[in-house]
Amino acid sequence: MKYEIIRLLREKKGFVSGEELGEKLHVSRGAVWKNISKLREEGYKIASATNRGYFLEDSDDIINRFEISFGLSTKFIGKSCLYFDEVDSTNDEAKRQAEKGCDNGLVIVSDVQSNGKGRRGHEWFSKKGDGIWFSVVLKPDIFPVETTGLTLAAGLAVCRAIRKHTGLEAFIKWPNDIIINGKKAVGILTEMSAEIEKVKFIILGIGVNVNTEKFLGELEKKATSVYIETGKKFNRAIFLQCILEELESVYEKYIQGGFFKRFYDEYMEFCLNIGKNVKVIYKGREVYGIATGISEDGELIIKDENNGEIKIFSGEASVRLNNGDYI
Ligand code: BTN
Repeated sequence: MKYEIIRLLREKKGFVSGEELGEKLHVSRGAVWKNISKLREEGYKIASATNRGYFLEDSDDIINRFEISFGLSTKFIGKSCLYFDEVDSTNDEAKRQAEKGCDNGLVIVSDVQSNGKGRRGHEWFSKKGDGIWFSVVLKPDIFPVETTGLTLAAGLAVCRAIRKHTGLEAFIKWPNDIIINGKKAVGILTEMSAEIEKVKFIILGIGVNVNTEKFLGELEKKATSVYIETGKKFNRAIFLQCILEELESVYEKYIQGGFFKRFYDEYMEFCLNIGKNVKVIYKGREVYGIATGISEDGELIIKDENNGEIKIFSGEASVRLNNGDYI
């Protein structure tokens, strides 16, 4: 009920009396007042004036299930949504929900992850208020082999959303890291449960460093956030909506056929690796070479030090910067 108050205050865009709110919600003015107090505790800035009622001021970065759904214009991604103040990992929670038969497009969001997971067994720092830590459960009716480019397409969707929403020049480091000014701002961890001929579900786990003020230690050289790059704090719920809308658009086109080929040109436009010196982990060892292209299925093509051609399907490919560092 308390979020219905927010909905009504937003619709009115002005003062609404306690009496009117009570009538619309079929509760007493006292109950309205109690809920207004709870909302203020959650961070909503609600002004009140005698004889005029309540007025919703611009509130800062509030993230909860209501804010994520309010005004979301997708058809199915995020229509079911679970929000947690804290969870182990949104990917693990998404898996638990998928095993129980959740809806296609369920989104799990958490303010904090106590065990945020990165690729290759790394930890993903997921502190309160810093970022958008979320996972999407997808149940595409395609063969498991047809899913390889989906994680690249998801990276493209996030890259588009960051460019649109923040104006920053975001790029993609193959397969799907998002890089801003040479540092990583987004990581994506895709997990899949499948039988030989059937995808049971895919979990797209996405971590966007939004409002992080500072990275410590080794991370300072490698990681960045939208705040560090723009000097502005962003409302994470609205940012997330923008990402979900781009994701849905990309996903629908992907599964309608054409798969990664459909996004090839746009992906190449933003891909950082091409023509650069890269270091890849291939068959358990480090290989140095030059990234010469991306195949139509999304593999990274590398010319190694012996002029041999290697195609890598998934994994890690660090790009050498002008200063010699690899990102
Ligand atoms: C990477 O190593 O680049 C992938 C990082 C993925 C992090 C996100 S945050 C939301 C989701 N839950 C997790 O535990 N990991 C992913």
